[in-house]
Amino acid sequence: MSFRSYFVSSLMLSLASFNATASSVEVLHWWTSGGEAQAAGVFKGYWQALGNEWSDSAISGGGGGSAMTVLKSRALSDSPPDAAHLKGTELREWASLGFLRNLDEIAKQEGWEHILPSFVLQSVKYDGHYVAAPIGIHRANALWINPKIFAKLNLTPPTTWTDFLQVADKIKQAGYTPLAMGNDEWQLRNLFELIVLGEGGSQFYRQSMIDLDPTALQSDTMLHILNIFHQIRPYISDNTGRLKWNQQSQLLMDGQAAMQVMGDWVKGEITGAHLIPGKDILCLPSPGTDGMFSYNVDSIAMFNTKNPTKETAQYHLVQMIMMDGFQHAFNKVKGSIPVFKNQKIDDFDACAQQSLKELTTAIQKNELVPSADGMANSGRVKQAFADILTPFFNEKNADPHTIAHQLARAVLSAKR
Ligand code: BGC
Repeated sequence: MSFRSYFVSSLMLSLASFNATASSVEVLHWWTSGGEAQAAGVFKGYWQALGNEWSDSAISGGGGGSAMTVLKSRALSDSPPDAAHLKGTELREWASLGFLRNLDEIAKQEGWEHILPSFVLQSVKYDGHYVAAPIGIHRANALWINPKIFAKLNLTPPTTWTDFLQVADKIKQAGYTPLAMGNDEWQLRNLFELIVLGEGGSQFYRQSMIDLDPTALQSDTMLHILNIFHQIRPYISDNTGRLKWNQQSQLLMDGQAAMQVMGDWVKGEITGAHLIPGKDILCLPSPGTDGMFSYNVDSIAMFNTKNPTKETAQYHLVQMIMMDGFQHAFNKVKGSIPVFKNQKIDDFDACAQQSLKELTTAIQKNELVPSADGMANSGRVKQAFADILTPFFNEKNADPHTIAHQLARAVLSAKR
């Protein structure tokens, strides 16, 4: 079935079961790159097709840093949106401040505990209560490859970070940019956590990046990881270092760059450009993370309101987000996979199918971890990582020993 006919038929079905009185919601999110905007369009389109109104607050900036700043100032001026894309620590912080609507009742009515895997349930809970509706699962530990460059240079995609450096060197000598990556805090933190996962394994990753254990942060393993991180600097382009993650994906698709290390939201850019993920651009686990799954559970939280009409609209929005047909249509475009247990995604691309397979195995083998940047760390801790890692990455003669101490100190004081 084509995407359009799937969309229309699942919508008809849902319309029949949906008690639609026109509702209006304002939704704040940061899905503004080409692929993300298309997915946000599916979200909006579904809502409007149910006879409702949508007011869009789209704030650009990968990873949502700017969106979170706007949200804070909206909340301070007592005009939060009706709903917002919030996840991980930020979600819990907003909930702890009492801004978010408790969704326990709807979760019970719709049987969330039977239909969602436990890591998804945990991701949308604060203090034992549901505070957001999960909308998709992203795999953060992904490596994207332009196969034409690899074939031309007769190279094999790297499966360890040592391999990565060797392959990158050959690509650079051949005149291509080895790694499509912007030199900004968010992209650097993303890269760093994936090197930690690939070189340290999931247990070390949990200790250092999630528990923020100072011993792990100053260990020999961390020194080795810092060394690799530093050695990557020559392999990103000086000319395009300011570009956002999605502009970097464009360089990969255009054949100017050979690899990108980034979550599978990149897939939204690939399908949005009418290329086939898994064929035109290959998807692999980031080096050293085969069998592991680092996740972002994207979720939509509802802000408390005293207006009963708004409350009803929020209720309908949550119901819609949890509809199988909606999740199917949205995640197909977004690059993620739906949040439900035992789902069928046979009509998704090869990379999504791979993602679901790896997720299932990682759950069984205890190799499932939250993305440190996307889910686990607070804004303060993320800033501490950025404050140390960004100058280190760009300073040719920086000493990893000193940096490991500084990192442990900065992260520890941000953790308090
Ligand atoms: C979110 C994705 C988003 C990406 C880039 C991640 O933190 O989970 O939904 O596409 O940031 O903006």
